[in-house]
Amino acid sequence: MAESVMQLQDVHTRRDALALGLALGCCGSGAQAQTSPPARNLRPTAGDCLVRAVGVSESAEALRPDDVVSAGPQLLAWAKEPASGVVRDGSRLNQILLLRLDPETLDAETLARAANGVLAYSATCTHAQCPVTEWRQEAGILHCPCHGSEFDPRGGGRVVGGPALRRLPPLPLGLSAEGSLEVAQPFLGKVGGQVA
Ligand code: FES
Repeated sequence: MAESVMQLQDVHTRRDALALGLALGCCGSGAQAQTSPPARNLRPTAGDCLVRAVGVSESAEALRPDDVVSAGPQLLAWAKEPASGVVRDGSRLNQILLLRLDPETLDAETLARAANGVLAYSATCTHAQCPVTEWRQEAGILHCPCHGSEFDPRGGGRVVGGPALRRLPPLPLGLSAEGSLEVAQPFLGKVGGQVA
């Protein structure tokens, strides 16, 4: 009998410890949570600057319009929180593509979201989430190499070919007081693929 009572108390103790762990949100990952700032995972936020996605570090220079090659190809970038230096590379859905195009060739809505001719879109294909890495300069089309979806950057990222059903979400840009590119608004629309 005494042994049964002790076993029961032991079960209660373990249950209480588990409940406490869940309440604290730790379950063995508390240290990891502290070393993985949530800001890394947040989508680009108004006021963020932009840095190159390749070889990126917290000391990376904020991109300026002239850093983006005129008429393509696209440059892949991450947003960076200026105050903390945190680069928002914690999710591949945060990746951004930048293009610099002649402002006179952009439709009115796209022009309003551009900064000195630089446009930003989600770099993640809205079909099945491959990176949109190809630029067909003659056609002026962004091309996803996985299944051939195509998007018109001058027309708000609309789908012009392939299996994708949704446009590439635009990311409105502005310029900081120092003349570097900065995020003006969050992505317009859902980022990610059709199953995300
Ligand atoms: S993932 Fe881009 S076309 Fe399928």
